[in-house]
Amino acid sequence: MILRNIADFPVSAIGLGAMPMSIEGRPDEAQSIRTIHAALDAGVRLIDTANSYHLLAGEVGHNERLIAKALGSWSGDVASVLVATKGGHLRPGDGTWTQNGDPAYLIAAAKQSAKDLGVDAIGLYYYHRPDPQVPYAESIGALVELLESGVIVRAGISNASIEQINLANELLGGRLAAVQNEFSPRHRSTIDTLRECQRLGIAFLPWSPLGGIGSAKQLGDRHSAFHQVAANHDVSAQQVALAWELALGDRVIPIPGASRPESILDSIKAVDLQLDADELELLGQE
Ligand SMILES: NC(=O)c1ccc[n+]([C@@H]2O[C@H](COP(=O)([O-])OP(=O)(O)OC[C@H]3O[C@@H](n4cnc5c(N)ncnc54)[C@H](OP(=O)(O)O)[C@@H]3O)[C@@H](O)[C@H]2O)c1
Repeated sequence: MILRNIADFPVSAIGLGAMPMSIEGRPDEAQSIRTIHAALDAGVRLIDTANSYHLLAGEVGHNERLIAKALGSWSGDVASVLVATKGGHLRPGDGTWTQNGDPAYLIAAAKQSAKDLGVDAIGLYYYHRPDPQVPYAESIGALVELLESGVIVRAGISNASIEQINLANELLGGRLAAVQNEFSPRHRSTIDTLRECQRLGIAFLPWSPLGGIGSAKQLGDRHSAFHQVAANHDVSAQQVALAWELALGDRVIPIPGASRPESILDSIKAVDLQLDADELELLGQE
């Protein structure tokens, strides 16, 4: 069973991070579509994207349009899939990332994302990364307006502290649906925000849950406890990392990235991997 129901937020317990299909090293479109279809056929019901998942300037929305195309040619029930996107983090095209938390920009960006995704309303929309030039409450005000005008169905925030989580939830009248923060065996300092989301009943989505595009394949080499537990079960260390994250709380939904069907098909098996208390303690201590 791979669905995890979180209030009105029914998604697969493992989502698909679509960023590797649109940034540096991206595969051709046919491989990306095969990867998305493989994930959906295996039961994944959450796809994570952003308007900034593109390579060149002038390609804003590349990943959103790719997902829309893949969903358009998929034979399953598209209405059962939650596509979550984000705004407020930009790629000028020179390999850097910048921020824009201006409310007018966020509102226009969300409307453009809806067009690029081919939807009337976006199922889950995140404010991607706090902009130090704009008071956080003003940027969250854009999410309130987007919710109230029906451009988005659910609001989320990303790269947020405990204080920002509580402020956003208050400004949204208790309707903050999801928090997406970096969390993995190598990046554990955000565990406080995972626990706060668990306490508040808000979904927590670890991004780069395998350590990031450049490190994911070496997870077992870099983290011996994950290698050891993987050997015990004869599975990949990546599956162990995802199963460990899932065991941290029933609100946790890791979104491992993939650009190949094999990666997401291996990752999704984490949902059925049972780790015992001794193993979880070992992984937690590393
Ligand atoms: N909110 C934010 O600020 C933010 C920042 C970064 C990322 N994200 C989101 O989080 C998602 C995940 O993060 P990420 O893609 O940066 O890093 P990641 O999930 O830690 O690692 C992705 C890489 O892991 C490989 N992989 C996946 N499953 C595997 C498995 N079972 N065995 C071996 N290798 C496996 C994939 O390889 P292949 O490419 O070969 O398939 C992929 O390149 C992104 O796609 C994006 O949607 C959000």
